[in-house]
Amino acid sequence: MPLISKRPSRNRRKLLSLALRVSLLMSAPAFAGTVDGAQALARDHGCLACHGMLRKQVGPGFAQIAERYRGDAAAPSRLAAKIQGGSVGTWGRVIMPRQPQLSDEEAKALAGWVLSQPPP
Ligand code: HEC
Repeated sequence: MPLISKRPSRNRRKLLSLALRVSLLMSAPAFAGTVDGAQALARDHGCLACHGMLRKQVGPGFAQIAERYRGDAAAPSRLAAKIQGGSVGTWGRVIMPRQPQLSDEEAKALAGWVLSQPPP
């Protein structure tokens, strides 16, 4: 996917270790500690090329996703799997490509961060 820019590895390694540390600290309902790390991950992995924080661009806005799944206890793990595996048909006909370069920890941190967005 040419839209996804590969940043130099110095930054990347910092992010990876941050994501790992954060995921170790993380217990299911408390995602607060992940915010900075997850936001940087989203930037680094090109999520924001397709997703607005609030409104639909190519994909749904992150706040819209959070709104849709508020109170859905299975959403964090389901979305983490979709972030890694890709998705189509939930919001429309546009495909979200899979992102196999993301580790489980990164996908979980990203899903938690998306779901923690306030209402649009
Ligand atoms: C090439 C554009 C594109 C990129 C890059 C992209 N997405 Fe998406 N994303 C989409 C589209 C389109 C959908 C809607 C898919 C559907 O309808 O099932 C979507 C859906 C989602 C959903 C909701 C899935 C659901 O079941 O409701 C989440 C969460 C998400 N993306 C997170 C991310 C994250 C995190 C990244 C970065 C790692 C990312 N996306 C990168 C286009 C993209």
